[in-house]
Amino acid sequence: MDQTRPFAVITGASKGIGAEYARALASQGYDLLLVARDNTRLETLSQNLHRVYQRDIWTESFDLTQPQAAARLYDVARSYRPQVSLLINNAGFGLYGDFADMPLAKIRDMLQLHIHTIVESTRLFLPDMLARKQGASITVASAAGFFPIPYMTEYAATKTFLIAFSKGLARETQNQGVTIQVCCPGFTHTDFHRSAGHQPKQVFFAQSAKQVVENSLQALKSKRTLVTIGWQGRLALWTSKIVPRKVLIALAGKFVKPPPPG
Ligand SMILES: NC(=O)c1ccc[n+]([C@@H]2O[C@H](COP(=O)([O-])OP(=O)(O)OC[C@H]3O[C@@H](n4cnc5c(N)ncnc54)[C@H](OP(=O)(O)O)[C@@H]3O)[C@@H](O)[C@H]2O)c1
Repeated sequence: MDQTRPFAVITGASKGIGAEYARALASQGYDLLLVARDNTRLETLSQNLHRVYQRDIWTESFDLTQPQAAARLYDVARSYRPQVSLLINNAGFGLYGDFADMPLAKIRDMLQLHIHTIVESTRLFLPDMLARKQGASITVASAAGFFPIPYMTEYAATKTFLIAFSKGLARETQNQGVTIQVCCPGFTHTDFHRSAGHQPKQVFFAQSAKQVVENSLQALKSKRTLVTIGWQGRLALWTSKIVPRKVLIALAGKFVKPPPPG
């Protein structure tokens, strides 16, 4: 085992954007710890990456909505390598529909995964990076965090939190050798929407997970904090700054509103 190779921890690595980060980083020479719940997918990905790139790829399957998930992630990562070069907080899921009808357990899981686990993981991994004056974290938020979105109210709000958290932290840690990035993809072709039970009406601006990851890792080199993807991302950010919030929220609500039952 070569302890000098960079080591990245990726949550939500079993598929979608997280699996794409794994492919890209293995090809760049990183050893990896891949975390998600689906052990079969993690193992298949790990074996493929090991075969192609001859990196050390470890997998750990656990549920990151559990209250002790961040501590477990930190302990497992350090059991493989004392130094983590890159933490990617990517695991997440969508909730779609009327807030008043949403099962409380699902809302609780989302708050735990998108907020508690990410904040606690960052808090645990960051001091080692600061002490070495080297390292980075990428948190995958969303363009949905640029403004409130009715019927995805709690999802969009957690992503808004992650953008604010990352921007504040980036300022606190500036000039200390670490990079804090918040990556904000727009609509991306993954299982995410199907899992959330959302059938978008018309998406002419969708991106691929590969494009998201290429943009994110490219931006890491220039140490950019807020990363949008392609022209679609720049347009979404720009729109969120110049169009009055009331108008934006009304339009988003119209676009996202679930069809009446039956
Ligand atoms: N797709 C989009 O349009 C889009 C747009 C903007 C932002 N994003 C964000 O991008 C991130 C990745 O999503 P994706 O599009 O790649 O969706 P995806 O294909 O559904 O992947 C989600 C990943 O998160 C993992 N995950 C979910 N719940 C988990 C839990 N409780 N514990 C551990 N792992 C869990 C899943 O693994 P297991 O099921 O194996 O646990 C999977 O690896 C999310 O944070 C999402 O909010 C997506």
